[in-house]
Amino acid sequence: MSNRDFYESTTSPVKNNDRYRRASSLRGALICAVIFLAVILVSVFVISSNRERPAEDTGAITLDPTATYPYDTIPAETSPETVVTETTDLSFIGPPPALTEPDSASITVDNTQITRGDLILINGQHPYSFDIPEKQTVFYGNKSPCYKLSLASISIDSDLFPLFDQMMIDFSTATGCKDLLITSGYRTYEDQEEIMASRVASMGAEKAALYVANPGHSEHHSGLALDMVLFIGGRQYYFPEHEMGAWIIENAPKYGFILRYTEEMSALTGCAAEPWHYRYIGTPHAQLVTDLGLCYEQYVEYLYSFTWEEDRLFIAPDGTTTTGDGFHLPAEGHMVYYVPANMEADSTEILLPLGYDVYSVSGDNVGGFFVTVDLTSYAEPTVDAPVID
Ligand code: DAL
Ligand code: ZN
Repeated sequence: MSNRDFYESTTSPVKNNDRYRRASSLRGALICAVIFLAVILVSVFVISSNRERPAEDTGAITLDPTATYPYDTIPAETSPETVVTETTDLSFIGPPPALTEPDSASITVDNTQITRGDLILINGQHPYSFDIPEKQTVFYGNKSPCYKLSLASISIDSDLFPLFDQMMIDFSTATGCKDLLITSGYRTYEDQEEIMASRVASMGAEKAALYVANPGHSEHHSGLALDMVLFIGGRQYYFPEHEMGAWIIENAPKYGFILRYTEEMSALTGCAAEPWHYRYIGTPHAQLVTDLGLCYEQYVEYLYSFTWEEDRLFIAPDGTTTTGDGFHLPAEGHMVYYVPANMEADSTEILLPLGYDVYSVSGDNVGGFFVTVDLTSYAEPTVDAPVID
């Protein structure tokens, strides 16, 4: 059969029956072959497709929840949505959860308290604020018999009195000396005016200004300062001048007292060396000031760098210091930080670590507060048992 025959039969099917039957059989075979080929091709395509995706592809990847997948071996075809889901499930191999600030308590302190407390800075630039209620204790009639007074009227801050008296008992016990003489304590503004006038008369205004603070600017106004010497064999000795004075020089910081005015620091303090003038700032600060070799002006600046939000200062019982955050508090020693006063309001919120019962807040007499927390005072917060009606 030629192509031409076939052509003709298709154009004139009824003209010749034999030719039509032959052409018809050929056409049938051809159609069958085409269908067969089509079936083969479709089958091949389906099988090929099935090899490329799971039989029941819903668009999600199923990971074995019991398996540990390092991030870089999670199957590559995992869709981004699946990664998010599985990352949650696999968080144990990721970074640790972000730490949160430990529980804190807070107190609100009136800003008038800036001028009050054991750590207030009093000098030529920062006068004492006389709005503080007086609470002085007169030594005479109250003190131990192991030290002396140059005047019966000398007094100091009432909270400080028992601490100082104990220091004197310990000094006398350790050295056998009962010759420490207190020459000055708390002073009023008028007291300071009288002393200044007397010194100006005796040594001239220029020199007097090195030894006597201007009225209103003396630490003696606070009741936190004392002048002390040794009176032995009818004469007066400053502590460095007599062997008995060594105990005071070495131990006064342990009781919270610092030697306030030294020769080396006179440019910063504005005062000449006064080996007789001690100022109470409390523990652990007095020992740290002494160990660091700073004058109090420098120490206040030093403390300004420690805040609740940033580094806090940790002072160990042996006096060594570290800095750190609030997450890992040492079990002993003290934590110290500075809180600038909120000058937008009348009061300042001060954060404290929760569970620490022994702490002190002192104004700096400039613009904020120093917080000193006793780290041994931690007590696990107690939870009250639920009341069942
Ligand atoms: N002697 C010290 C500076 C005072 O007068 O307070
Ligand atoms: Zn003094």
